[in-house]
Amino acid sequence: MKLWGRMLWALLSGSGKRGGTRGWASSSWQPRLPLAGLSATELVSHWTAVFEKRGIPEARESSEYIVAHVLGAKTFQSLRPALWTQPLTPWQLQCIEELSSCRLQRMPVQYILGEWDFQGLSLKMAPPVFIPRPETEELVEWVLEEVTQRSHVVGAQGGPLILEVGCGSGAISLSLLSQLPQSRVIAVDKGEAAICLTHENAQRLQLQDRIRIMPLDVTLEGSWAHFVPWGPMDLIVSNPPYVFHQDMEQLAPEIRSYEDPAALDGGEEGMDVITHILALASWLLKDSGSIFLEVDPRHPELIGSWLQSRPDLSLDLVAVRRDFCGRPRFLHIQRSGPQHGCPTDAWPGPQPPRVPG
Ligand SMILES: C[S@@+](CC[C@H](N)C(=O)[O-])C[C@H]1O[C@@H](n2cnc3c(N)ncnc32)[C@H](O)[C@@H]1O
Repeated sequence: MKLWGRMLWALLSGSGKRGGTRGWASSSWQPRLPLAGLSATELVSHWTAVFEKRGIPEARESSEYIVAHVLGAKTFQSLRPALWTQPLTPWQLQCIEELSSCRLQRMPVQYILGEWDFQGLSLKMAPPVFIPRPETEELVEWVLEEVTQRSHVVGAQGGPLILEVGCGSGAISLSLLSQLPQSRVIAVDKGEAAICLTHENAQRLQLQDRIRIMPLDVTLEGSWAHFVPWGPMDLIVSNPPYVFHQDMEQLAPEIRSYEDPAALDGGEEGMDVITHILALASWLLKDSGSIFLEVDPRHPELIGSWLQSRPDLSLDLVAVRRDFCGRPRFLHIQRSGPQHGCPTDAWPGPQPPRVPG
């Protein structure tokens, strides 16, 4: 399935109450005559027809999400039935028209609504920060299973110390933190907008005390040095940019026009950032520490061969999992042999300091 296909799945997967219409000023705008007095159901039909005529994917779902959002609900189905047939106010009609015109310009629904659910957390979304995809929830669930089942990934302070490379909106880090109450997370991203959004989402969810968010490009030489204050990691998790460069052109307009290409483009074989994460992991992970990666279906084989050509890293591909479409998309890589410290053997000591807020 193409990336937009997966975004569509995300579009269809929301439920319950969503944000509402705060922040939109009322004005003297009057709807064009044919729209005045229409109900929510009629508005959905109207905008579905407009979207279909203009070739907008998932026309009905898009219009339902927009109308529901303006009426203060997460999905159209979760609206009180009385609201389906009640005539909308001029202000509501204006809001719906404004949001629908964004959709006509192929803006993803998640950016239009400004928030989206991931693992039961409501996260703020803003372009160009990558929109979390539903399969990444499967990656998080795998990490949670492993942490729960395996005592050796539990850190000295009672919970694992986790590094996320490329945190985007903070979806992975914040859902791990919320479901592993003893864990601490270091989240890095090279994008300024991603760092700001992760900060904001951490504050919204009151998880800021257990996460350290740092701007960092892991492909830069010496990036390992930024992690020295925390000591060896129990776990590294990443949904890195992994799209093969030649596939970037084929991405849907929603993705190409609004999401940061640096979040997607993994270079010629989609491995540019992945190989740096693996090299970094070799230095940062404790003995038997784990890396969990989301990748392209061609990567399990490519990464397996790459690791065999780099025995110096002491990393083994121990398991591959398939996504809900049956494609091999998630990797568990484990460090074997004793942790050999940073290039300069610079770990401060056996007790890593507390991750500051
Ligand atoms: C596919 S997105 C994943 C975002 C988030 N983890 C999620 O799953 O929704 C990849 C993220 O990696 C970041 N990134 C790309 N290259 C990077 C690098 N060299 N160092 C650190 N972060 C990087 C991008 O800015 C982007 O936020």
